[in-house]
Amino acid sequence: MVGSGAREHALAVALAHTASVVVTPGNPGTSGTAGVDTTTAPALEVDADLFVVGPEAPLVDGLADELRARGRAVLGPGADGARLEGSKAFMKELATAAGVPTAAWASFERVDAAVAYLRDLPGPYVVKTDGLAAGKGVLVTADFDEAVADVESKLSGAAFGDAGRRVVIEEALEGVELSLLALCDGERLVVLPPAQDHKRLTDGDFGPNTGGMGAFSPVPGATDAVVGAVVDEILQPTLAELRRRGIDYRGVLYAGLMLGADGPKLVEYNVRFGDPEAQAVLPRCTGDLAELFLAAAEGRLGDDSPAAEGAAVCVVLAAPGYPAAPVTGGVVDGVDRAGTVEGVTVYHAGTSRGRDGALRVAGGRVLTVTGVGADLREARERAYDGVGRVRFDGMQFRTDIAAPARPGGARARTGAAAARSAGAGAP
Ligand code: AMP
Ligand code: GLY
Repeated sequence: MVGSGAREHALAVALAHTASVVVTPGNPGTSGTAGVDTTTAPALEVDADLFVVGPEAPLVDGLADELRARGRAVLGPGADGARLEGSKAFMKELATAAGVPTAAWASFERVDAAVAYLRDLPGPYVVKTDGLAAGKGVLVTADFDEAVADVESKLSGAAFGDAGRRVVIEEALEGVELSLLALCDGERLVVLPPAQDHKRLTDGDFGPNTGGMGAFSPVPGATDAVVGAVVDEILQPTLAELRRRGIDYRGVLYAGLMLGADGPKLVEYNVRFGDPEAQAVLPRCTGDLAELFLAAAEGRLGDDSPAAEGAAVCVVLAAPGYPAAPVTGGVVDGVDRAGTVEGVTVYHAGTSRGRDGALRVAGGRVLTVTGVGADLREARERAYDGVGRVRFDGMQFRTDIAAPARPGGARARTGAAAARSAGAGAP
């Protein structure tokens, strides 16, 4: 298991049910997990039957290729397939070639052409860095001047360095967001239980986009019919188009979707498990995930999606100043107390343990508290019971993760509608 976030901690816990797990570099949570070893040895020096690569950056940089060149089984695409996440322009071009429904778009390297395109859009406006930006490179705004300023700061390199020197501008989609993760073996795929992420920093979908502030699974709107349509119209055509281009995609294909009036549309692809989606999806899965992941890596997936039970809700606890400028160093209390709540697991991300033994804030997203239960209501109660037992100075979290849908409520107002009513993108 390669990585150091809460997603990797959740993967390690899930895989440890049926496998011996080694995590590199891991975090204080993985090193305290039974059946899990944490090592600082680089992945290439670890001996394992299966390598699961958590984050996108090493995939984009070709870690899976290096491992495969040494004869290793890997859950994670090579650099060719990882471009789906590494370049939004590539993703949009491939999706368009595959006939996948997605927002109208164009890509630009020059400000004047980008502004001319913005002028022709009705708004709200969506401006994305082409390259990787840790989930923070997307502005959705109803304010034309803000969109122009964002284009300028991205293309100049000021905002995101080289990742922003090309931008993708899109039409804004309306609807409810859904994350559907598929395990692919190059030819076949099986889907994991659907999840919904909450990307904005604060309650009601206000504030800047983040890497994700919480998630839940199952998603009431994600019926079998909706999931079937996503598989048939979006995921399968994408995998086929990858194959046509000679790309043997073995790994997680994560579709970020907008469920609108005219059916599901693709917002983005990620080439790995979602964070925090993994922390809501994996605890629900029953059965042997290690064997399933190995089957995907070895090109021998069957037809059956993993069975899932109950419901899960996870809440991210973020550092003060996140996402713009997280302040680290604060002492974290109560993680063990939270873990004593029935159904609750606390996954570590940006934590470190100093010589004094104290757990401290060491990154933007610090912990994810997951509650599982019979249904979303019970899972949510348990998760927030856990959250209430953790504290550190300036702790930020949303109180409306998986809140029951209400007119004008958080779940009814994602995407373009949120931008229009929220002055989205404001710090
Ligand atoms: P991405 O990194 O492409 O997933 O974008 C991050 C977030 O921005 C998404 O989860 C959506 O909330 C929002 N977003 C991205 N593209 C669009 C779009 N075309 N229309 C509306 N919202 C979008
Ligand atoms: N939760 C969004 C992501 O993993 O990209």
